[in-house]
Amino acid sequence: MRSLIDILDLSVSEIEELIATACDIIENPQKYSEKCKGKKLATLFFEPSTRTRLSFEAAMYELGGNVIGFSESNSSSAAKGESVSDTAKTISCYADIIAMRHPKEGAPFVAANSATIPVINAGDGGHNHPTQTLADLLTIHREKGRFDNLTIGFCGDLKFGRTVHSLINAMSRYSGINVVLISPDELKLPGYVKKDVLDKNNIPYTETRSLEEAMPSLDILYMTRVQRERFFNEEDYLRLKDSYILDTEKLKNAKSDLSVMHPLPRVNEISVAVDNDPRACYFKQVLNGKYMRMALILKLLEEAKK
Ligand code: NCD
Repeated sequence: MRSLIDILDLSVSEIEELIATACDIIENPQKYSEKCKGKKLATLFFEPSTRTRLSFEAAMYELGGNVIGFSESNSSSAAKGESVSDTAKTISCYADIIAMRHPKEGAPFVAANSATIPVINAGDGGHNHPTQTLADLLTIHREKGRFDNLTIGFCGDLKFGRTVHSLINAMSRYSGINVVLISPDELKLPGYVKKDVLDKNNIPYTETRSLEEAMPSLDILYMTRVQRERFFNEEDYLRLKDSYILDTEKLKNAKSDLSVMHPLPRVNEISVAVDNDPRACYFKQVLNGKYMRMALILKLLEEAKK
């Protein structure tokens, strides 16, 4: 059974196909409005979410399908001690496809091994978030028209930011990519991502604490929130939470065609005044996420028939 646990589960050409489907959905939404008639998506969210869960739900409704699920772990049998594996087997009896978010790294992988229907990783702890990456890739495609020859700055919590890990993996397959890692020392990109992804693919990268210094070279600036829920103590969070605040002043040194991205939710790291700058793309990412999730649901349900 084909699932999506890691963005690298999709080949470069499959990502191109998903983007082509998403673009067709944008042009001809009515063509897709009954494609999932009679099908059910189960959203199993063991962690908070606004965009990911609701965009999966909106995606399934726009495909003519239905949605079941829960959005709080304590309202499911997990609170009684049920294993992820048993939950996945159970939901396989009710639904056709699962989107799962879980605080434990690897939980959607465990679910996929027990489920008899496709499982989509909707975020697992500080590890991966492949469908946010699909949203990011459609955004880069629509804004930049290419995936190669780009200098991408990742700024903020690069240690716990799962969206950063997945997007770096996705971009590692294109040529001419330069990565600039902007973070406080305590929130640097994990060594395993540097070694297994950047070094392995010969992607040049630099690490800096200064957003100002990095700004002029960037084609894309990917801002992230400091991931409070993954900290061991509140003091460290309070000390680091406002490490970077992107404002209109800092953008003065940026390229005129910079794309400012952010997976959202934003806390303080982008001032609201930046929203009016034509370079701000983060609300476009939200919309693109729904189209890519529609394309992904279609693909996985199609493959499940085989
Ligand atoms: C991200 C996540 O859940 O990792 N949010 C999202 O799905 N768009 C980013 C975050 O929570 O900071």
